[in-house]
Amino acid sequence: MESAIPEQLRCTRTRPARASSDYTPPYPAWVAQFTPTTTQMVVGCFGVQCQGGRRKALKAIQPILDQLSLHHGPRHHDLAHHVDAEGYDTVIAMAYWDAIAPFQQWRTRPDVDAWWQAPARLDEGVGYFREIFLPHVERFETLFSTPDKFEGAALLASHLSDEIQEHGYWGGMRDRIPASQNDGLAAGRASADRPRPGHRVVVQGPDNVALIRSGQDWGETDGEERRLYLRSIEPVLGAGMDFLEQKGESVGCHYNRYMQHIDREGDPIEKSFGLSLWRTLEHMERWSESHSTHLAIFGTFMQVVQQMNFQLKLRLYHEVSVIKAEEQHFEYVNCHPKTGFLRVGQAQETG
Ligand code: HEM
Repeated sequence: MESAIPEQLRCTRTRPARASSDYTPPYPAWVAQFTPTTTQMVVGCFGVQCQGGRRKALKAIQPILDQLSLHHGPRHHDLAHHVDAEGYDTVIAMAYWDAIAPFQQWRTRPDVDAWWQAPARLDEGVGYFREIFLPHVERFETLFSTPDKFEGAALLASHLSDEIQEHGYWGGMRDRIPASQNDGLAAGRASADRPRPGHRVVVQGPDNVALIRSGQDWGETDGEERRLYLRSIEPVLGAGMDFLEQKGESVGCHYNRYMQHIDREGDPIEKSFGLSLWRTLEHMERWSESHSTHLAIFGTFMQVVQQMNFQLKLRLYHEVSVIKAEEQHFEYVNCHPKTGFLRVGQAQETG
């Protein structure tokens, strides 16, 4: 067993961990480990929204997918779909770079930049958005329930850890984040102004918003396990995700999207994730530890684990980051006013 915090990021704690040093978790879990040269990464959520179905949204995102495959594009991206609470089909590409420089070179390419800035984007009956996060590795953590398959940011990792100590208790997430050794990661100053809905809007968020992508892969489940996932776990997960999307602000969740992976033809893949942005890590902790919706997800999962005698083909993972104000960028072009961070924060209309 090892610590989730790699050796080069360990330091003398001024803030105690929640678990004691001799704690042993009740079941195994693993984290992604990065080479010491990976110090900061880019998590980009590039999206389109429209009415008229998944295929239409997929067609609309094609120029963005073409851009992602250009030189200096991301090391990896996923495609996923959901219908938001306003009834808009949303398709996103979640893209990951393992350094800032190639991302900046990609973003400022004339063929990428000119497409985003073109007046035609306001005139296509489609909304476009990009939500970009630049987490430092000290402000980032992952967790995997199985040691055999990575997803998301972990695909930038150099290797999988050994079984880790900091999980299986509320507070494990914070204990896995290296910066939490001496930083409370508390809320920054709240943004004063509400955004004015407009055609092209850049929104500024405060320090220390927390982003989570929490994923499920049921593609290899079968028999009783598959039945239990689809009939018992997924419905409570869906209810929790709906709560966060519709009433999340009451618990400090700015926005949530419950996404299903799709392939290049737009057909669903048996993998999903919740993607949500929170006022602070503490709000996320409080919801997961005490809110009836996550407790129902957690409790149902634990029953299924026991029913299946701890032999699961279901894979769960998450990635969490805490982001500084200057390392976030939210931009919405032609989007409805309830889209993502457009509903909060300080906005600057640019067109
Ligand atoms: C099928 C879906 C899900 C299941 C079965 C599940 C189950 C769990 C389990 C077992 C843990 C404890 C992990 C450990 O430390 O070993 C956990 C932690 C957590 N979950 Fe979920 N979860 C699910 C979905 C989600 C989603 C969509 C979110 C999105 C916000 C979420 C947020 C969290 C957070 C923030 C923690 C960390 C709590 C902490 O360590 O303080 N979960 N979940």
